Amino acid sequence: MRIVSGAGDRPYYEIVECYKHPMILAIETSCDDTCTAVVEPDGRRALSNVVHTQTEHARYGGVVPEVASRAHLERIDGVIEASLAEAGASLDDVTRVAVTVRPGLIGALLVGVAAAKGLAYSRKLPLVPVNHLEGHVASAYLADPKLKPPFVALIASGGHTALYSVDADGRMNLLGETLDDAAGEALDKGARMLGLGFPGGPAISRAAKDGDPTRFDFPVALKGRNNLDFSFSGLKTSLLYKLKALGEEVAREEHPHLAASYEAAVVEALSRKLLRAADIQESPTLVVAGGVAANGLLRRRLREECKRLGLRLIVPPPELCTDNAAMIGAAAVRSPVIPFPDYLGLNARSV
Ligand code: KG4
Ligand code: ZN
Repeated sequence: MRIVSGAGDRPYYEIVECYKHPMILAIETSCDDTCTAVVEPDGRRALSNVVHTQTEHARYGGVVPEVASRAHLERIDGVIEASLAEAGASLDDVTRVAVTVRPGLIGALLVGVAAAKGLAYSRKLPLVPVNHLEGHVASAYLADPKLKPPFVALIASGGHTALYSVDADGRMNLLGETLDDAAGEALDKGARMLGLGFPGGPAISRAAKDGDPTRFDFPVALKGRNNLDFSFSGLKTSLLYKLKALGEEVAREEHPHLAASYEAAVVEALSRKLLRAADIQESPTLVVAGGVAANGLLRRRLREECKRLGLRLIVPPPELCTDNAAMIGAAAVRSPVIPFPDYLGLNARSV
């Protein structure tokens, strides 16, 4: 059997027709979630998507790289078994292994890469190295199996905040990105200042539930008409100064309003720039992905705006927005394949 990339003119399932149920086994360990999934060969449907979120980091208020690597190591075998069982599959059904190789925490990535190499090698399978950010964008193909590029995509996560135009061949071209903190990082740091839990995004949303988003005025940076970059460090500093000015006791009473106003500023920056990018690119289709895309306010705001403007919006369900391996399996369909056994020297990269 000759294995070639599925990205050419011959679709992957034709090449592996000797398998009864060809499937992709995908692995994602770039940060603090140990994730594996079983995805159909066309990358449009996940048969399972298992995520083990490491709770070990909560007490530190952020992800500790060494703790993450060790926790991945402890969990990865069990999570792989669970994802196969949930898909009603066995290793005999797996025709290729996909794994996140960059960007992320190097020690954490290496656990997934070593597991993927071991599995692929032992079954003489090809291996597909996947870029985590391409994975986030590919979550849109799972959310809408009929989706075809071109479109404009916003990725907003704990490590990245960037806008891309995705061309007809699926290639991502950077339009703008954050100059400092990522949106998720701003939410995580804001939550820490407010004494809320980790991860900060959902914690801020919970705290903001009964808050007034107009009570406090937080800055939205880089408002220039054609500027598609983001900046969140000023927002963070603004919260720090407001907390100092209010004093501990009053600040505590104002917590719901501070959280609501802070969340609204992040959402405003993200939606404003995405809509502007769609306008500049004259793109009728918009994709939002990454952990922050799970945010209820952002989803509502963009849905309303896109409806008003007659644009098509694809926001994957929250479990496909936060880190998961189904998106890595989906992205693997568009990534170059390394045949057995040429991947033994494959390395992970932090950037
Ligand atoms: O994509 P992701 O799971 O991991 C990275 O690749 O970074 O994103 C994690 C980020 C965290 O900063 C977290 O606070 C944020 O996504 N997040 C949210 C929500 N769920 C996760 N932010 C806002 N609202 C949410 N519901
Ligand atoms: Zn991510």
